[in-house]
Amino acid sequence: MKNYDLIQHVKGESLFVDDTIVPEGLLYAAVCYSQIAHGKIISISIEKAEKVKGVKSIFTSKDIPGENQIGGIIQDEELLAKNIVEFVGQPIAIVVADNQLIAKEAARLIDVKVEKLPEIFDAREAANKNQLIVPPRTFVKGNTEDCWTKCDYIIEGKTESGAQEHLYLETQSAIAYPVEGGGIKIISSTQSPTTVQKITARVLNLPMHKVEVDVLRIGGGFGGKEDQATIWAAMAGLSAFKLKKPVKLILPRQEDMRVTGKRHPYSSDFKIGLMKDGRIIGYEVTFYQNAGASADLSPAILERTLFHCTNSYYIPNVKATAISCKTNLPPNTAFRGFGGPQGMFVIESAIFKAAEVMGIDSAEIQKRNLLNENDEFPYGQKAENCNSKKTWSKAESLYSIDKIRLDVENFNNINDIYKKGIAVMPICFGISFTNTSMNQASALVHIYNDGSVSLSTAAIEMGQGVNEKLRQIVSEIFSIDIEKIKTESTNTTRIANTSPTAASSAADLNGKATEQACNNILLRLKQTAAEILKKNNLDAIEIKNEMVYNDSIITDLSWTELIKTANLKRVNLSSHSFYATPNIHFDRTKEKGKPFAYHVYGTAIVEATVDCLRGIYKFNSVKVVHDFGKSFNQLIDRGQAEGAIVQGLGWMTIEEIMHNELGQILTDTLSTYKVPDIHFTPDIEIDFLEDAENPFGIFKSKAIGEPPFMYGIGGYFAIMNAMKAFNPKLKCIFNSPLTPEKVLMNLYRKS
Ligand code: MTE
Ligand code: HPA
Ligand code: MOS
Repeated sequence: MKNYDLIQHVKGESLFVDDTIVPEGLLYAAVCYSQIAHGKIISISIEKAEKVKGVKSIFTSKDIPGENQIGGIIQDEELLAKNIVEFVGQPIAIVVADNQLIAKEAARLIDVKVEKLPEIFDAREAANKNQLIVPPRTFVKGNTEDCWTKCDYIIEGKTESGAQEHLYLETQSAIAYPVEGGGIKIISSTQSPTTVQKITARVLNLPMHKVEVDVLRIGGGFGGKEDQATIWAAMAGLSAFKLKKPVKLILPRQEDMRVTGKRHPYSSDFKIGLMKDGRIIGYEVTFYQNAGASADLSPAILERTLFHCTNSYYIPNVKATAISCKTNLPPNTAFRGFGGPQGMFVIESAIFKAAEVMGIDSAEIQKRNLLNENDEFPYGQKAENCNSKKTWSKAESLYSIDKIRLDVENFNNINDIYKKGIAVMPICFGISFTNTSMNQASALVHIYNDGSVSLSTAAIEMGQGVNEKLRQIVSEIFSIDIEKIKTESTNTTRIANTSPTAASSAADLNGKATEQACNNILLRLKQTAAEILKKNNLDAIEIKNEMVYNDSIITDLSWTELIKTANLKRVNLSSHSFYATPNIHFDRTKEKGKPFAYHVYGTAIVEATVDCLRGIYKFNSVKVVHDFGKSFNQLIDRGQAEGAIVQGLGWMTIEEIMHNELGQILTDTLSTYKVPDIHFTPDIEIDFLEDAENPFGIFKSKAIGEPPFMYGIGGYFAIMNAMKAFNPKLKCIFNSPLTPEKVLMNLYRKS
């Protein structure tokens, strides 16, 4: 992937938080966590810890000058537990010392006495006890009361999908410095600088202008740093503020895996009604979301589950209810797809089970019900420029699906132990933050008087290549060499009120703002060029490849000369521009509106081989036709699609998070938590759907970050189909991750 900083990455020269060149007197922080899943704090004794040589200070909730409150959507989360602890791994105290080892050692010596309270880890149990984060939400379309009588088939079932560890390469990290006037500057590995700024200001009782947050890049986020990077930044901020010394807080890997939230596990009930011909008439679903101990982003994630509960299908009668359940686990959080994958797994399960009952291939039902142009989603938006069927039929023809089916059948006929299965997985994903107000961004462009360009936006580079795309936009509009353009760190003093880099929207939102800022300057430059060339017709002036053209004829005036002269003529060579996605809205009282700027579509064919003696499996291939809009960086977009597919397959199959009965995580290392590696990775073929220009995206492109993740769901059903080839009597199960262990146990299940 030809990212801006690729060469630097390979040489190890790129700086992450822990590599930051630090000032003299830097101190290190470590955190003392609850060992108990639910209980009342009786006492916190720090005496022993304080006596350790090299310990500078220990902070508990009573040392917080402002509010001990970091909750975003709902204010239900303390930075440091005061009276009650609600999960194993909840922060209670911060130790600051001369080095990390001392800080860690002292944190272990803090003695926290807790009186245990009953704990709940299961979402349905929490729902039964009415322990909810927010009131349930229901989306209704048509009428699911009456529709069942019309159906030839009515099928009900239950599904489970598991948690997922983000496993960003850079663990949660922050460095905070005291600055003049009692303020704080924080370098944070966050997807959301403004959240860090706002919450730290709240905790320290400072106005937001006294907290500056800077992010050069982050070593992956995947949603895990949309909200949860704030905790560590605020702790470093608190320590630096109190001690008037720079403080660094870096989570070791195992600690990060233990204490941070994951993708939300869901448990769901469905009921689906169909006609003999495969048409889906009705769909009812209830989602139980395991939110963990506090809200974090759960209500927003819950909402996106509802938005995507019918995936890429048109269903006339839908009733979908989503319940966010409070449990004694670390608060679960954003993760690529943001609740969408959880919702889509359920409809795919329902279709798969219906196909089993009806004795047909699930692809027949999927294909029969794909969205058409102007079909209405359960939330009232219409499918516009709908590429659902286009990607399906292109995948069928391009990859010769009939031949694949035949090959799989032949393979299965001659092999007893190894069985193959395929599944087709269509996707439809809405682009925009579902919270309309978050769909805004700004850009600040400076042209220095040597002709080089500096670009600041709200976008965070986290490996997804957004900086490279932003540079391309500047390079394209000014028609200058991309090497002349530098993307700056994301900084709250240059770009204010930033939305997180999330919802796959960073390139769209910040790209549009960048485009506008560049166009503002370009107009001034054309005026200047016209003056220099003594021409009146602005429209005839163009900049191409760093030269000024008039009436399509090259002049002597170069970019560098133009900029130099413009500066001497006192022309403004900077522009700040703001962009907000137009024409989106959503009414939560009616649960109807047009929340998304557009949708992304695609179809994947996933093939798996299962070793039915051992239960292990291999994904042979994932063949995709994806709607990228009109991609303006195919290499980056392909890289995003490939990464997302592998991550999606991992979620559905080998990645399994387990806790013991005390709520302690058992899978906190890479020896117990398996993630995809290069051996796991199948051959991935990706076709860019042609003629898919997107009128609502930057340069007619579409967002790419999250949508392909959901192709991974096809992996689950490819394995199920292989299992059914081995044991035709096998009744399907919908309990992901479908680990080799689960495969083995189910292959030989008697009933
Ligand atoms: N790609 C890399 N390499 N690292 C990441 O952390 N995060 C994903 C996706 N791709 C991620 C990634 C998630 S969850 C989102 S929302 C998008 O990138 C965010 O970036 P974008 O808006 O620029 O697509
Ligand atoms: N996607 C990702 N992150 C978000 C969203 C969303 O829709 N809303 C709030 N944070
Ligand atoms: Mo991505 S889950 O929206 O950070």
